[in-house]
Amino acid sequence: MMYLSTMIQNIFIACNFRLIKNNYMHSRRIFLRKSALSLPGFYILNSKSQRKKVKKPIVISTWDSGLPVNKVAWEVLKQTNSQALDAVEAGARSIEDKIDCCVGLGGNPDRDGKVTLDACIMDHQFNCGSVAFLERIKHPISVARKIMEDSPHVMLVGEGAQQFAVENGFKLASDKLSESAEKTYKEWLKKSEYKPIINIERSHGGAGFSSTPPPFKLSNGVFNHDTMGLIALDQQKRLAGACTTSGMAFKMRGRVGDSPIIGSGLYVDNEVGAVTGSGQGEEVIRISGAHAVVEFMRQGKSPAKACKLAIERIVEINPQKAKNFQVGFIALSKYGEFGGYAVQPGFVYAVTHNTEPGRLFESKSYF
Ligand code: GLY
Repeated sequence: MMYLSTMIQNIFIACNFRLIKNNYMHSRRIFLRKSALSLPGFYILNSKSQRKKVKKPIVISTWDSGLPVNKVAWEVLKQTNSQALDAVEAGARSIEDKIDCCVGLGGNPDRDGKVTLDACIMDHQFNCGSVAFLERIKHPISVARKIMEDSPHVMLVGEGAQQFAVENGFKLASDKLSESAEKTYKEWLKKSEYKPIINIERSHGGAGFSSTPPPFKLSNGVFNHDTMGLIALDQQKRLAGACTTSGMAFKMRGRVGDSPIIGSGLYVDNEVGAVTGSGQGEEVIRISGAHAVVEFMRQGKSPAKACKLAIERIVEINPQKAKNFQVGFIALSKYGEFGGYAVQPGFVYAVTHNTEPGRLFESKSYF
């Protein structure tokens, strides 16, 4: 009897083992079949997609201030053998040269009255450079490029970044605020309230667009926040991107946003596309925004759809909170397809290519 029960037990164990083994073999077969199928599939897709017509060169950038920025980038891009990397750097430098609420040394200061700049740049081969909390240097984008090309690092911040810049020939500028920033800062000091303004970057109040012009100043005239991001594809099908900002106005001293963070404010993968964005950096960092959009594109989503999925991810973290901030992404595929999407209405981006000398698109939005 004992013997019989042990035998039954053994048969049961053996059966179970066979079942597990069969299941394992079955799953493995499915896995191998899928892999085997997916390999040629991948190549078929790839070879098909390689036949797709590529719209190039092309540059797209955030906000209406992107129109003049694109113009500068285009002057580079239209030349034979020019590089997307040079084009985005030139575009970014052009806005850093201007007195702008949200980019460069003319921008609004932190709450201690100091302008601190963030920027990053990335090319088609995953080379990238970044600078954050940089003071008194006019062209943070070029410092970022210098870090990328002539240092063993990706990112330098604060004093060290400034030291690197000066050692590499960048001039130390005065720390005096621009006239408009000084006025704005003095006004802000009266209440010292920190409140980012949605679409503050949009300078022309929405002329020509269907939506209500977004508020870009507080009632007391105070400007608040943000960023120039631009991405380009050159004639040799190389993508590149640049992102530059003075960050949120009246931020806490030492605050760094998404703009200098590779994968948040900017990401470029030449196999897929390039992405940058603008808006409240804290919310972008939370989901590694630009990288998330690139990954959605890798899964086959269009640039606009990929931006939408990333924005939904941000909003769904806290839909109530999302009603009070803006984030917008723009994306460019390796074929020159482009799109954008934002949390709030009012996010615009500028597109320039051969048949489009510079046009603003208003992106769709979650709300
Ligand atoms: N998006 C720029 C910033 O948050 O600083």
